[in-house]
Amino acid sequence: MGSASDVTKPHAVCIPYPAQGHINPMLKLAKLLYQKGFHITFVNTEYNHRRLLKSRGPDSLNGLPDFQFKTIPDGLPPTDTDTTQDIPSLCESTRKNCAVPLSNLVTELNNTSISNAPPVSCIVSDGTMSFTLKVSQDLSIPLVFFWTLGAFGWTDPNDFMINYVIGETERSYKASAVILNTFDVFEQEVLDAIKYELTPPLPPIYSIGPLHLLLKPVSESALESTGSNLREEKTESLEWLNSKEPNSVVYVNFGSITVMTSHQLIEFAWGLANSKHSFLWVIRPDIVIGDSAILPPEFITETKERSLLVSWCPQEQVLNHPSIGGFLTHCGWNSILESVCAGVAMICWPFFAEQQTNCRYLCSKWGIGMEIDNNVKRDEIESLVRELMQGDKGMEMKLKAIEWKKSAEEATARGRSSHLNLDKLIDQMLLSST
Ligand code: UDX
Repeated sequence: MGSASDVTKPHAVCIPYPAQGHINPMLKLAKLLYQKGFHITFVNTEYNHRRLLKSRGPDSLNGLPDFQFKTIPDGLPPTDTDTTQDIPSLCESTRKNCAVPLSNLVTELNNTSISNAPPVSCIVSDGTMSFTLKVSQDLSIPLVFFWTLGAFGWTDPNDFMINYVIGETERSYKASAVILNTFDVFEQEVLDAIKYELTPPLPPIYSIGPLHLLLKPVSESALESTGSNLREEKTESLEWLNSKEPNSVVYVNFGSITVMTSHQLIEFAWGLANSKHSFLWVIRPDIVIGDSAILPPEFITETKERSLLVSWCPQEQVLNHPSIGGFLTHCGWNSILESVCAGVAMICWPFFAEQQTNCRYLCSKWGIGMEIDNNVKRDEIESLVRELMQGDKGMEMKLKAIEWKKSAEEATARGRSSHLNLDKLIDQMLLSST
């Protein structure tokens, strides 16, 4: 039995896809639901739970009444490593192996002789974990899908991940509701197309992003320290940024999954070095395919006065630091939203999944990105970094990024679209739990 909890509360079981870019927004959504009076059970895979305990310490989990963490196995062979799992294998394995453990867990949560949590009223599942539909149907519990990608990222056929996502999307029709981490004016046309033109029509769709802006004004300390970073967050980046001039640093980060060849890494390195700008570069230990990330000693010597290389950083805080002047990104949806909310323009090197489409929108529709050719060349990096940091186009993009930041703030203000949509979602969830 856990600590005493209020059994009259609605109870949402939140289950993210087990990768960083999905756990982060699901935890934000879970915190919002908690603040709206829900009891939360947050379900991680055993592998990720172990990584969270290691990176954040046991106190950062289960520190709140009515907010508990539980685990299920991901079905992959056990390992002691601390790296990003192979995504295609993980997709395959979660689809085949996770329904039974999740069903057992929800059944246990509903068994009053072994659990003191309120009865489960809703499953909130990542949209790419559609095996949860069967669990919800078998146990007669409403299911809400949370799509952690942008609205358009949900529709474009491309590579393995997109085809996987399309397969999962087809089952969205059977959910009680669909949640999107976006805001209406950012993706109005696509949202309208999804809402009004698809046949058969989808269940109610709630665009309630950017989630972290909705969450901020009401955060409390125990909730704040319940974190989701699978790697240790070091604050050295923020300290280093404090010593830099405003708008003077290029931030480089390719998210939690992107990998590259050592040749590409070296081209990025010399492009950054030759731009003569300061840079903060996050290089995960597993970023180079099948190898360790080794940079030329001459590069280290030449840039040591104006660069900081780290293996992970608190990205949201970094992007909001006044010294950041631009972001070289792989165009993951969370990175885009975090950059938009910080008013930071981007250089885009999309890797896979919906990132190509994200990049196209950044460059052509929102006017806050410039694309790098997939075949990375140091001269191109150098000239794009210079343009971003000191060129006319860079200035134009910065002004546009500040406009989008204001739009995101407006959308999440009381009475505006994302705020209203969150209230409607909660009403629907409460209604279906009674
Ligand atoms: C994945 C997919 O690759 C992406 O296409 C999809 O849009 C979301 O899921 P990922 O590649 O990890 O995500 O990128 P992203 O969406 O940007 O998410 C990474 C998250 O990790 C962000 O919330 C970012 O703030 C955080 N992060 C990353 C850190 O906090 N520190 C880091 O050093 C790197």
